[in-house]
Amino acid sequence: TTKIIMDTDPGIDDAAALTMAINNPEIDLKLVTAVAGNVKVDKTTANALKIVHFFGKNDTIPVAAGAAEPLIKPFEDAARIHGESGMEGYDFGDDYGQPIAKSAVQALRDTIMAEDEITLVPTGSYTNIALLFKEYPEVKSHIKQIVAMGGSLSGGNMTSVAEFNVFTDPDAARIMYNSGIPIVMVGLDVTLKALLTDDSLNQLKDMNETGKMLYGLISHYNDVSGGAKGRPMHDVNTIFYLLHPEAFTTKNLWIDVQTSGPAIGATVGDIRGAYHDSKTNAKACVDIDADFFNQWFLAQVAKMK
Ligand code: BDR
Ligand code: CA
Repeated sequence: TTKIIMDTDPGIDDAAALTMAINNPEIDLKLVTAVAGNVKVDKTTANALKIVHFFGKNDTIPVAAGAAEPLIKPFEDAARIHGESGMEGYDFGDDYGQPIAKSAVQALRDTIMAEDEITLVPTGSYTNIALLFKEYPEVKSHIKQIVAMGGSLSGGNMTSVAEFNVFTDPDAARIMYNSGIPIVMVGLDVTLKALLTDDSLNQLKDMNETGKMLYGLISHYNDVSGGAKGRPMHDVNTIFYLLHPEAFTTKNLWIDVQTSGPAIGATVGDIRGAYHDSKTNAKACVDIDADFFNQWFLAQVAKMK
């Protein structure tokens, strides 16, 4: 099994990513940390708890609340995409448990130091991770890799060049990309290709309770980047990558993050290798098998409660 920590801002696609990670026997989800992003951090924390509770895992998967705002840039949410609560479309009830007393940074530190090797899976902005690396740099040698949703080599979804997670906290993204830890960039280059089709969405509706829950959330998800072809499940692609790297085409690159100016939040790949002397800090996903993604998504949910 692959031991992972998810750092997340649910968020409808985050909720689907958590669902895939919690229910896969090949993944051992040790901790969930929440960060401000799609909505404020009290809401992303509550939403993470709702998913953990839905699957009856409050006792085994701790949820910790993290940063309420980016390192430097003012906070802007994405409630227009994910709804007021960040996870509209399903009634999870009012009793879904509490976050642990430790802060996200403290919980990340303690969980990482207890393992020889663990994978970080950030699906929100990278504020918690940047704070962790500043405060406890000793964690770095225990992190095998970071498989992060965010960034793009082919245009943005916030500005013409910037993707939301990186745009939300570009300073944190720069710290993460310069950390020296191997990073897999699961960005818009693939997430806008692996759209969940309307046909797949309709199949979820009557599949089981999990299918009903995901159908409810995804039907309330206003990410229209797929047009008529379907909806991007951005964050789910990180878990899909962990389980099926063969479904992706990747390119080793140096990724620089722009932290000011009109291109703020852009992830620039040193395609020519010239500026960074052919050194690389990331594996960028550039292509994906979209049909397989849909098949896998449905087959996974079919096995759930
Ligand atoms: C990213 O932005 C968020 O709204 C989604 O949850 C995803 O992590 C896509 O750009
Ligand atoms: Ca997210």
